[in-house]
Amino acid sequence: MTKVDNHTPVMLAEILSLADPVLSLPTSTLEGQAKRYLDVTLGRGGHLKAILDKYPHVSAVAFDQDIDAIIYAQKLFETEIAEGRLQLVHGNFLNYSPEVHGNFDFALADLGVSSPQLDQAERGFSFYHTGPLDMRMDQSLTQKASDILAEYSEAQLIELFKNLGEVSSPFRVVRAIVFDRKTKPFETTTQLSGLIERVDGWRKKGVHPATQYFLALRLEVNQELVVAQEGVRGLALGLKPQARMAVLTFHSLEDRIIKRLFKEQLTQWGRPLFKKVIEPTREELLSNPRSRSSKLRVFERILQDAMESKSKNKYR
Ligand SMILES: C[S@@+](CC[C@H](N)C(=O)[O-])C[C@H]1O[C@@H](n2cnc3c(N)ncnc32)[C@H](O)[C@@H]1O
Repeated sequence: MTKVDNHTPVMLAEILSLADPVLSLPTSTLEGQAKRYLDVTLGRGGHLKAILDKYPHVSAVAFDQDIDAIIYAQKLFETEIAEGRLQLVHGNFLNYSPEVHGNFDFALADLGVSSPQLDQAERGFSFYHTGPLDMRMDQSLTQKASDILAEYSEAQLIELFKNLGEVSSPFRVVRAIVFDRKTKPFETTTQLSGLIERVDGWRKKGVHPATQYFLALRLEVNQELVVAQEGVRGLALGLKPQARMAVLTFHSLEDRIIKRLFKEQLTQWGRPLFKKVIEPTREELLSNPRSRSSKLRVFERILQDAMESKSKNKYR
């Protein structure tokens, strides 16, 4: 399996086989244009590298809001950038625009954080390493997790952990946060995870009690649910006729948003390619534990003619 600097791309085989029907021919039969791939979550470039290597005729645009990912990719893809095959964009893919970045035959959004982001203590995503309570994927954002813990009211923190962390009863933890912050602000990951461990204790074997609290803070800092809804909707508008878009999610709230978007909200543009969600195989789960809880959904843009006849039929 392709492994790029401690990051193993999730469901790579599945994604390559989904891309094959739309990327394998050098030009689009409809418009005669060269094939184009859009990767809006570059990370360590695992999926991107596999696609560029497999399809030498494909050119690509790749987004990442983390400057470290862009710097890493500038080296890894030096040749492709010099050849004009790859354009890197530093920024949030909420800013993707077909007019500026072009239209695509295949697009991938591998939502969430990358392994290097999780593993670097100074990024503050993990309670297994002591680091600042940061959690920003985009280092230019102004609000860090520590700011949320310092500034949100008790009621706002309860709502946050309930809604985004799906913690059914965060009251005791929030009360303890609000009490402790009067004398000492929350600055490190282990300061917060230690408090949660003390107050909530271990309930589920193998699941750290801080897991859902950390997830809620991360989603809030990076506005990840807004990105899943609005960002992915925006990508659909840049798909060429018959093009496909694959979205990988890692938790239920995000998957629910993508499912609705594909099934109910983007029906003017296309349809989900499969009724059921795709999950990693047993082999992948064993070889790459970070694929756990991943879900893959695929959307296919319908031909404009087919859409028109579909809407005419509706009125017959
Ligand atoms: C799960 S990793 C992607 C891994 C990548 N597919 C690979 O194989 O190496 C997610 C990456 O997307 C970036 N990212 C997440 N949300 C983003 C957004 N809204 N806009 C731009 N980049 C984003 C993160 O900074 C991270 O580097």
